[in-house]
Amino acid sequence: MPEHKAKVAIFISGGGTNMAALLYASRLPDCPYEIVLVASNNPDAGGLELAEAEGIATFAQSHKGMERADHDAVMERAVLDAGAEYIVLAGYMRILSKVFVTRWAGRIINIHPSLLPKYKGLDTHTRAIEAGDSHGGATVHLVTPELDSGAIMEQVKVAIMPGDTPDSLAERVKLAEHQLYPRALAAYVARHARVSA
Ligand code: GAR
Repeated sequence: MPEHKAKVAIFISGGGTNMAALLYASRLPDCPYEIVLVASNNPDAGGLELAEAEGIATFAQSHKGMERADHDAVMERAVLDAGAEYIVLAGYMRILSKVFVTRWAGRIINIHPSLLPKYKGLDTHTRAIEAGDSHGGATVHLVTPELDSGAIMEQVKVAIMPGDTPDSLAERVKLAEHQLYPRALAAYVARHARVSA
């Protein structure tokens, strides 16, 4: 067992299946990280209920009617109060302010449902299908102020099948994401721990 487990806050906006994958992976032997907070900009995010049921601290603050910087500050307060060292975005559908991202540089990670640098932003599956691509996929990358452009950590390819719709492809990409994200996060925090030891 690693002596110190990296403390991770996960940000979600929706169902939180990647959050669940990260959480259950953290409970397997020898995982070098633990989830100390699940936070959301959407108080109705389904993943919050699951996190609570699993005994994880949760926090929710709607961004509606708030300045971006103010909302980021509220989220960051929750992260710091929870003692988190890393922020992991898992379907967090808010752009974070440059100041916030810069402060967490190297300690904030995202998963994006495409083979970056292809298809930054939204509607990735529709765009991959319409382009006639043979594969979609997912990318885990460091977060930098420019959207979906930080250093790529790991990727997984997913074949696009005849008759795939954006929904059917999204579902399979999520299965792949659930394998990729815990592995990429574990490798990253373990490497950081070695470097700073
Ligand atoms: C995931 O497919 C993730 O890659 C994507 O949202 C989904 C969240 O699903 N993220 C983005 O599009 C970020 N730009 P989940 O809530 O079930 O984990």
